[in-house]
Amino acid sequence: MATSAQNRLLIKGGRVVNDDMMQDADVYIEDGIIKQVGTNLHTPGGTRVVEAKGHLVMPGGIDTHTHMQLPFMGTFAVDDFYTGTRAALAGGTTMIMDFAIPQKGESLVEAYHRWRSWADPKVCCDYALHVGVTWWCDKVGKEMEELTEEHGINSFKMFMAYKDTWQLDDHDLLESFKQCKEIGALAQVHAENGDIIKENTAKLLDMGITGPEGHELSRPEEVEAEATNRACVLANQVGCPLYVVHVMSKSAADVVSNKRRQGHIVFGEPIAASLGTDGTHYYHKCWRHAAAHVMGPPLRPDCETPKYLMDLLANGDLQTTGTDNCTFSASQKALGKDDFTKIPNGVNGVEDRMSVIWEKGVVSGKIDPCKFVAVTSTNAAKIFNIYPKKGRIAVGSDADIVVWNPHATRTISAKTHYQAVDFNIFEGMEVHGIADYVICHGRVVVEEGNVRAVSGMGKFVPTPSHSPYVYGRVQERDIANAPKKVDRAPYDGPVIQLNNQG
Ligand code: URP
Ligand code: ZN
Ligand code: ZN
Repeated sequence: MATSAQNRLLIKGGRVVNDDMMQDADVYIEDGIIKQVGTNLHTPGGTRVVEAKGHLVMPGGIDTHTHMQLPFMGTFAVDDFYTGTRAALAGGTTMIMDFAIPQKGESLVEAYHRWRSWADPKVCCDYALHVGVTWWCDKVGKEMEELTEEHGINSFKMFMAYKDTWQLDDHDLLESFKQCKEIGALAQVHAENGDIIKENTAKLLDMGITGPEGHELSRPEEVEAEATNRACVLANQVGCPLYVVHVMSKSAADVVSNKRRQGHIVFGEPIAASLGTDGTHYYHKCWRHAAAHVMGPPLRPDCETPKYLMDLLANGDLQTTGTDNCTFSASQKALGKDDFTKIPNGVNGVEDRMSVIWEKGVVSGKIDPCKFVAVTSTNAAKIFNIYPKKGRIAVGSDADIVVWNPHATRTISAKTHYQAVDFNIFEGMEVHGIADYVICHGRVVVEEGNVRAVSGMGKFVPTPSHSPYVYGRVQERDIANAPKKVDRAPYDGPVIQLNNQG
């Protein structure tokens, strides 16, 4: 097919950053695919040129964790697949990974199709899906297999909290881990002990603590750490790789990092919220302000936690960054004005993740631009098996690119953000690093502060099973660690007789 000038783009004079190297190079794109990376490129006449001098040219961000228009706690997340993905692009994220979550008893495949029917006509950027496992029987296991083999799903999220709705007990958790291993999928966990949360919640409400601080008090750090540890042990016992979503606390992060040191195949995902702000906001005098930060697991009321999590990202103990973007406006949060358990859980982040991580990671001197690319894009592409189509600037990769101005600043505010939600948990934060241009599928969708996104422009990206980055070690490990029978002569001495009383 002949390419028209419209389908050709040259990003000129920038510094290309991948997770493992930086080089001064131009990037030439045709029909949404990177065709050349280098200097003195020969490009056809009429090619559109984006001047990138003084800019970093990086793979577009991959947000590993969003919930656009999630039906949750009696309402729907206010950012849908259109406003949410448009906002993602504005901030330099060119792909999101959302969650199709069936209700207990509901078919996983039907939930998958429902999410596809919501997302496909609306998404402005590419997306993939994880699928929730909220109940267990053999049919669920078969559906997981079908989703993996026929529908491009390679990750399943199990909930250890949300008792009475989505929570799995340990038996069902173990069954789901075994099935993930069987089909080459990645098991994900929401790691909080839902039974303890239920117990604590009743006590707090009895004491008259009904405000948003009760949310945090009902689920302190060790409740997250305990579940994280339990999930690691269960997954490791059945040889299943594990991915801990929304790592919110130092102690949960320590569990992930210690288990990695013990040889477990486990990955950890802090989010923009846990890296960029903290849980002192739950104690804010303004109810609306405090409620706006309610999410699970909660932010920790300790201003050192974000720095600690960033250090763990920097040294590779944690790997990816999502947002858990699940937004509810004031009138929705107000469902819980007299009872914190009714405040819809969720915060923003999809638009600001890249800037927040640049600010807290690179500007603070904890990570370099290559590591920034690793934790905002490449590691996710590798773990979820879509690398190097995504997560790399290289010939043959998708032309999902952010032209990053590391010097420009902006102040984050709900007044100026693209998201539909009426609050921003990063309000007032001045960040360096702005996506001056965002290229999605080879099209310039952000330039000079304008977002020109079109609903339905994004595509569903299937994630193939048996990701080599995740499963590469699993087979070898199974062989090496297989229990071995000891050959010995049978015991031929006396054996006591058991009576029936003991
Ligand atoms: O508060 C949160 N995290 N809301 C979204 C659902 C989830 O658990 O990820
Ligand atoms: Zn969760
Ligand atoms: Zn979530």
